[in-house]
Amino acid sequence: VPLSEWPPHAEPETGQELPAIVAPPPGPRSRAAAARLAEVECPAFGHRRERRAVASGAEQDPIVLSHGRGANLYDVDGNRYVDLVAGFGSVLLGHGAPSVAHALEAQGARLLQGLGDVYASDAKLALLERLVSLGPGEHPMALLAQNGGDAVSAAIKTAVLATGRAGLVAFEGAYHGLGHGPLAACGLRASYRAPFAAQLGEHVTFAPYPRSDAELAASLALVQKAFETRSIGAILVEPILGRGGVVVPPAGFLQGLCDLAHAHGALVIADEIWTGLGRSGALVRTLADGVPVDVVCLGKGLGGGLSISACLAPEAVMRAWARDEEVVHTSTHAGSPLACAAALTTLHAVHFRKLDERAAAVGARALGTFSEVLRGAPGFVAARGAGLMLGIELASGALALAASRALLGRGFLVLGGGLGGEVLTLTPPLTIAEELLESAAHALREVLSA
Ligand SMILES: Cc1ncc(COP(=O)(O)O)c(C=O)c1O
Repeated sequence: VPLSEWPPHAEPETGQELPAIVAPPPGPRSRAAAARLAEVECPAFGHRRERRAVASGAEQDPIVLSHGRGANLYDVDGNRYVDLVAGFGSVLLGHGAPSVAHALEAQGARLLQGLGDVYASDAKLALLERLVSLGPGEHPMALLAQNGGDAVSAAIKTAVLATGRAGLVAFEGAYHGLGHGPLAACGLRASYRAPFAAQLGEHVTFAPYPRSDAELAASLALVQKAFETRSIGAILVEPILGRGGVVVPPAGFLQGLCDLAHAHGALVIADEIWTGLGRSGALVRTLADGVPVDVVCLGKGLGGGLSISACLAPEAVMRAWARDEEVVHTSTHAGSPLACAAALTTLHAVHFRKLDERAAAVGARALGTFSEVLRGAPGFVAARGAGLMLGIELASGALALAASRALLGRGFLVLGGGLGGEVLTLTPPLTIAEELLESAAHALREVLSA
């Protein structure tokens, strides 16, 4: 089958089962595996769990995963979960999607690794041709990278080259990855930046991310001030704050940023690593809303589970990379044929199965269900989101931690988000059965009412 025609797009929809808990999590095998993990993994993660256990008063010992199918994940004790996290939003097609498995097998037999930016593979060419159809602007071009943070680094470098200005506006609560480039623009937790502050430069101005119409003017005023006082080349923004708590900004915010940036000859970089590829109900959230951003970063689900990301911009912007003195952004595995084949297949599947439209419709109904089922539940504040990127805000981070733990015990996997961890964040596969979302809403109601 020619690469351009992948995948066979009818997929059996398996893995849409309700939870089945056979050993209350963490079961004995998970406990044993977690103890071994603690011996060999950097303690940053274990300490995070200990801090959470103290904060929530509930055990936060991990389960260890073994396999998945569709919207179901299984741990090493044989417990079956409904996965409402989906690899931090990256498993768009569900676990074990046959189209991705098929693409990996076929490409694996053809060529596993190519020569990246020296001699491209046909798989990379096919992916690039497909990707640039997403935009933005006139004659878009793409730069492939390895993960989300890497695509953001590429975008920040692109803006510096295109504008000649190093200053960057970023937002409080924003998350763009943790390599040094995106870390400098990470507004989520000061503690992520603090130990490395001396290596991060002082080129970033943080502005508040508006949560309501009332906060819009103050945020835009701060961005305007940054343009008047500093040499700003770009604004880096999430169209919906993801890890920051699924915050949908008021209408006019993103357009306002574009107006300000363009009036000052600067670029707007839309970090669509979470919102993009159907997750928020559109392939590219900003462009679907008619917001004329200049650079788009995609990642997470792009690789169908493999690590690959992209930075897209019009030729007029990308041309800034063509210089007398060589300057490139690349790495050994950037644009690897295997990841490109998986990405091409994922894009085809999202397109042919209209998963962006499905996410918009299913997500809107799920938001209604959660709001209705949780109304009046102790500790419930609000449900919000777009597409299958939902945030359930609870009264405190401690409550959200305890609730997510109790949900785990009932077989529903969710993650905490928001500045104080007070938002349960749901990013299930775009293929999830609606009944599973309804069951999750009722399970959460029971947990909060217990
Ligand atoms: C909006 C956004 N940008 C960038 C990233 C970083 O992506 P990665 O973890 O693949 O580096 C994330 C990760 O959660 C994200 O949510």
